Amino acid sequence: MNNRIYIFDTTLRDGEQSPGCSMNQQEKLKLAHKLVELGVDILEAGFPIASEGDFEAVDAVSREFPWVQVAALARACALDIERAARALEHAKRPRIHTFIATSEIHLKYKLRKSQQQVLDEAVAAVEQARRYADDVEFSAEDASRTDVDFLEKISRAVVAAGARTVNLPDTVGYSVPDEYGELIGRMVRSLGDSAIVSVHCHDDLGLAVANSLSAVKAGARQIECTINGIGERAGNCSLEEVVMAINTRRDRLPYHTGIVTEHLFPASQLLTEMISFGPQPNKAIVGENAFAHEAGIHQDGYLKERSTYEIIDPKSVGVPEGRLVLGKHSGRHALNKRCQDLGFELTRDELDLVYKQFIALADRKKGVRNEEIAALVRQEIARVATAAD
Ligand code: KIV
Ligand code: ZN
Repeated sequence: MNNRIYIFDTTLRDGEQSPGCSMNQQEKLKLAHKLVELGVDILEAGFPIASEGDFEAVDAVSREFPWVQVAALARACALDIERAARALEHAKRPRIHTFIATSEIHLKYKLRKSQQQVLDEAVAAVEQARRYADDVEFSAEDASRTDVDFLEKISRAVVAAGARTVNLPDTVGYSVPDEYGELIGRMVRSLGDSAIVSVHCHDDLGLAVANSLSAVKAGARQIECTINGIGERAGNCSLEEVVMAINTRRDRLPYHTGIVTEHLFPASQLLTEMISFGPQPNKAIVGENAFAHEAGIHQDGYLKERSTYEIIDPKSVGVPEGRLVLGKHSGRHALNKRCQDLGFELTRDELDLVYKQFIALADRKKGVRNEEIAALVRQEIARVATAAD
């Protein structure tokens, strides 16, 4: 089986539609530029029927990056699909992404439709979309809570109608990895080579990346994800995490993507500048502390050999360098290294004195800055010199 995993980025659609994440057109274009550099395979630029801004974003992104596969979202109804097709008019590689909910809960309470109605609408939507674009993706919203026989039936029907990609979202982030993998495996076996099976996982239980990887192991070949994991509620599968898991654990995950990983951190930083929040400090790959070491034992090991405490070279994801945070848990080895970086060569006795003062200061603070360390060193050296006079 082909082991190339397609990365479908939905930062500008699922990500942008979540609280605090709206972007104007100029920002969307700037971010799209970064996503193209990053090497995403499919760039979902918006939901054209949802707003004029979304329509214009899809139009602008497809004009600006004609060689990129640009996707536009549409519910499974004629007006939405027409609007998506219009927004993609100038795209050289348009993808219409149409969806309808398939779970019993959604059918009963939200759509008030029977399975047959939903199936007929899905097929009609895909047929209509195919009149505008060769590349059509169908999503069965809330797939992970859908009756599996119905999911299989509708998936086969939309493929027969012309869908090339069938996306099976864990819309409410309810699935667990082995269960989701089983579901995806069954759909992959059922669809064979007739379509690419895609996954789109939300992070309500913090399992979006794990679920996506389990799905890949079961045969999914497209992952839908976002920078910094932004998206509805707890967000989507984080692009940087899923890509780096694949890159770092090739022994267990023998797959590859087209992502240029050195752009991961810059992409995260750019998104943070544009929306109202950044990743949490301890977020994997792109968080402020992702490559920071504070504990003395860790700093000592890291300074002797980086791989003792680092599984990813920060430079490989575009982070300038690993950081040693000097705080109350730090040891002499790290403090001495920082003093050397600041231009001080200390004797063992001087280091002991400075270290004592440093720990006293660090105990009162959350972290000690370079200027404070330099001031401490000067003060201690001066004190030793005065005592010797
Ligand atoms: O979460 C979801 O089900 C979606 C679909 C529209 C793909 O975002
Ligand atoms: Zn979603």
